[in-house]
Amino acid sequence: MHIMTSRGLIPFPQPAVQRLFFLVVAVILPLSQTQRPPHIVFILADDLGWADVGYHGSEIHTPVLDELSASGLRLDNYYVQPICTPSRSQLMTGRYQIHTGLQHSIIWPCQPHCLPLGETLLPELLADAGYATHMVGKWHLGMVRQNCLPTHRGFHTYFGYLLGSEDYYSHNRCVAITGTNITRCALDLRDGDNVARNYCGIYSTHLFTQRAEHIIAQHNPNKPMFLYMAFQSVHSPLEVPKQYTAPYGFIKDARRRKYAGMVSALDEAVGNLTAALRAAGLWDNTLLVFSTDNGGQTLQGGNNWPLRGRKATLWEGGVRGVGFVAGPAVSQRPGVSRDLLHISDWFPTLVRVAGGKTTRSYPLDGYNVWETLSHGTPSPRKEILHNIDPLYRYTPCMCNDEDEIPCAFTSRTPVEFNISMHAALRFHNWKILTGNPGCGKWFPPPHLGSRPKGPEEVLRNDPPMVQLFDIEKDPEERHDVAQDHPDVVSKLLKKLQQYQRGATSPSYPPDDPRCDPGKGAAWGPWRK
Ligand SMILES: *[C@@H]1O[C@H](CO)[C@@H](O)[C@H](O)[C@H]1NC(C)=O
Ligand SMILES: *[C@@H]1O[C@H](CO)[C@@H](O)[C@H](O)[C@H]1NC(C)=O
Ligand SMILES: *[C@@H]1O[C@H](CO)[C@@H](O)[C@H](O)[C@H]1NC(C)=O
Repeated sequence: MHIMTSRGLIPFPQPAVQRLFFLVVAVILPLSQTQRPPHIVFILADDLGWADVGYHGSEIHTPVLDELSASGLRLDNYYVQPICTPSRSQLMTGRYQIHTGLQHSIIWPCQPHCLPLGETLLPELLADAGYATHMVGKWHLGMVRQNCLPTHRGFHTYFGYLLGSEDYYSHNRCVAITGTNITRCALDLRDGDNVARNYCGIYSTHLFTQRAEHIIAQHNPNKPMFLYMAFQSVHSPLEVPKQYTAPYGFIKDARRRKYAGMVSALDEAVGNLTAALRAAGLWDNTLLVFSTDNGGQTLQGGNNWPLRGRKATLWEGGVRGVGFVAGPAVSQRPGVSRDLLHISDWFPTLVRVAGGKTTRSYPLDGYNVWETLSHGTPSPRKEILHNIDPLYRYTPCMCNDEDEIPCAFTSRTPVEFNISMHAALRFHNWKILTGNPGCGKWFPPPHLGSRPKGPEEVLRNDPPMVQLFDIEKDPEERHDVAQDHPDVVSKLLKKLQQYQRGATSPSYPPDDPRCDPGKGAAWGPWRK
């Protein structure tokens, strides 16, 4: 007699232990019978930096994130993309930007573009697998046409905003419309496809959490649920109700203090979400993923110390992400994972967890890392293409007080890789960067002093076109070892060349002034 388990065939034990075995089975079976695909709650924070969570030693208090991550698995070697649209596109498709045409910058409000409609999105495959799919929060994957919107791309329900940033209370976004003298301030908030007008004055962290709590409370526990919770927190503008900054009187830097309050509100929101999951009886079968979308923006209170650079750069401060998984399925081995993981990996991993199939998708760049997360088997990922962006232009002001300035759309022709291109590739312990990776300063958190310490203070204005770092030994990217390892450099340059040969041309169309919704109307689709 044999018994089939998830681990295969187990020979049935001899009579002496049979009774004990039946006893164990009787206790275990009711549990395993309820082992349906887990509810999946994916929490995406916006612009949360490496040094902005308590468990990384931050001066900002994040008791909920600290405890939740300690009960699950902290991802210490986990990578995201350096800016919003790219990370979200990879989460939704499991594919690198060189394969979706989103290599360059973000999708700006008036660009007539969205995540290509031929792509199959994560919620579509989870819906195929029987999930109820809900999204709350920031989309930022384009809105030019109605079929670009979340409810047309696999989400059964949606409540949130379509653009990349806005006011936390009024939910308005102001945009200078190219080719006109108009700066349009208009609402960007939707419930499904409909404009949601009645929420002016409610701080988005509270508003989105309430919506998620409602979804959770209404959910039929017999059906698996996918909730994509894409918080506005903690992206600029720096806005937060006063009570959240109260504990941070000790932070002298005004931006950092406000930002700290925003992180606290986010932390509280995550606590409320898990409480709602518990109250609804869903928590015992939930897989919770927490991730940032990119590194912290030091211009807006965020911090990535001791990592180099910040949001919008290919340095570790831009791409090494805060992330963890929690919930019963992963809590058997709480701790810290050192495995190389990437945001594109969630797509095949979560579809696999859901019992779904990825066969409808174009070829994936993400790996199914479920065995790594649940059983500690080594990650199948050994390499990450951080990006190749042939349209990137560096302006010196980027390192001072300005955000990245988008450059004009130049060419649709695919270009051969060359070392002046803004590109980076991770391969095992090595990371190669070419062209200008973006602002390469080290920004200590304000309370550690306002200036970077050490000889690195004098940074070169003309960085070498090729830089190589041993990230395992030198995660702070302080010692360029390109000269010492010409063989590694040449191997990795060949890889970049190969990637670029397989790339689609970047799509970065000029603004269309017809995006202007007009006075009193809301941002939204403007083309048929
Ligand atoms: C914008 O304003 C300037 C100065 O007032 C004017 O010269 C120009 O014609 C205006 N442009 C448009 C498109 O209205
Ligand atoms: C969390 O729940 C508490 C208690 O209901 C509430 O006062 C607080 O505003 C909530 N916070 C967020 C961020 O939703
Ligand atoms: C290298 O690529 C850049 C685009 O990033 C292009 O402007 C430049 O002309 C290329 N240089 C050569 C030598 O091909």
